[in-house]
Amino acid sequence: MIAKVRGNSKIEGEITVSGAKNSALPILASLVLTSEEVLINRVPEISDVNEILSMIRVAGIQVTFSDNEIMVKSSSNLKGELGNFDSNIRASILLLGPLAARTGHAELPYPGGCAIGERPIDIHIEGLNKLGFLISEKGDRIEATLGKIPKEVKIKLRFPSVGATEHLMMTAAIMNGTHTELSNCAKEPEIVDLQNFLVSMGAKIKGAGIDKIEIEGVKAFHGTTHTIIGDRIEAGTYIIAALASKGLLKVNGASSETFNFIHELKKIGAQIITNEDHVLVKPSTLKPFKISTGPYPEFPTDLQPQLTFLACYTNGTSEVTEKVFENRFWHVDELRKMGASIEKIGDRTLRIKQSQLHGATLIGKNLRETATVLFAAAIADGPSRIEKFEIILRGYEKIWDKLKKIGVEVDILDQL
Ligand code: EPZ
Repeated sequence: MIAKVRGNSKIEGEITVSGAKNSALPILASLVLTSEEVLINRVPEISDVNEILSMIRVAGIQVTFSDNEIMVKSSSNLKGELGNFDSNIRASILLLGPLAARTGHAELPYPGGCAIGERPIDIHIEGLNKLGFLISEKGDRIEATLGKIPKEVKIKLRFPSVGATEHLMMTAAIMNGTHTELSNCAKEPEIVDLQNFLVSMGAKIKGAGIDKIEIEGVKAFHGTTHTIIGDRIEAGTYIIAALASKGLLKVNGASSETFNFIHELKKIGAQIITNEDHVLVKPSTLKPFKISTGPYPEFPTDLQPQLTFLACYTNGTSEVTEKVFENRFWHVDELRKMGASIEKIGDRTLRIKQSQLHGATLIGKNLRETATVLFAAAIADGPSRIEKFEIILRGYEKIWDKLKKIGVEVDILDQL
């Protein structure tokens, strides 16, 4: 898909964020843990969600999805062999432990996802081994077989991996009679949302969002109704775009307490008013800054490309350091094509000078990087073309409608 973006726009108006992609994906994966009816509201209609749904349907879950609502009828005959499925999303790995726990054996394709780093799954595998699963990797397939179920398990994650924390939480929750303690866990709000969902189905879990998570495995889960939390990364993407263009923007629908990054933005001069369920971004003069990403509650890596772009609009030289992924710099070349002055310092730091951006021919690479290039193009002087623009549909729901509401004009030149 090639998009033509009109430049010289001011990002302003009002939008409502969707349900969080990174909460919906683990929650939908955990639907294989129950055979009862489940209703989930505020599920974003994005391609990553459609992909995880097609995988759980192959596993035997009868699920319908319309108007942001997931309805699961009671399901039976669960099967764990999804090895022939080609997965483009990272979250597919979350099905391995839960399916093996419920059926005794599971086989999955190696997870896909963005090319922002090698993205190994060693922390997932180490944890599943401690939970008693035998793991074998055959080419681009990975298998898990339930072995001797331990009574007491302690797992200290080498790194607070979001996916590994979710994966081990979901798997341990359905291991009847096993008491598991996870430490050095990820603390993102999406982990808390997953815990709340699992507990609403009868899981015995506590501690998500603080350091240790304790899980008492149960025999079976019942049904539930749940609403996904707002997408803080989607909200942050629009907030940063408004700041860069000195627009007035109201963002509804993401609970302000998940906006841990707002205090960082306020420290550099952003005029942002937060309320219980919305945020108001006002035209601001931004100072240069030094910000590092890190595991929650540090600045989110999923807003690092957007922050790099914002640094062009401060009155000085800023530094952004990426501490979560080793190769999350795909946006740098694209921003340089637009005239951004960005220097790479060592392996992890970017030094960005105040820059006037102009339109260019650009290429989408990964989800957050493509969103960054879109908003840079919207503000830049003159029009731009963005190839592989369809990447943005993986994680930004109703993007056309939202762009129209905030004054960004995008035409699709062809659907290739
Ligand atoms: C989740 O990915 C998110 N995806 C990512 O969002 C997000 O950037 C990331 O968490 C960090 O916040 C979903 O939730 C679907 P990690 P995940 O495991 O779970 C290393 C987006 O744009 N690691 O916390 O894959 C890994 O290589 C996406 O919405 C291991 O070494 O992230 C990385 O350097 C992008 N071994 C670091 O940990 C492992 O077994 C963080 O990865 C697992 C991870």
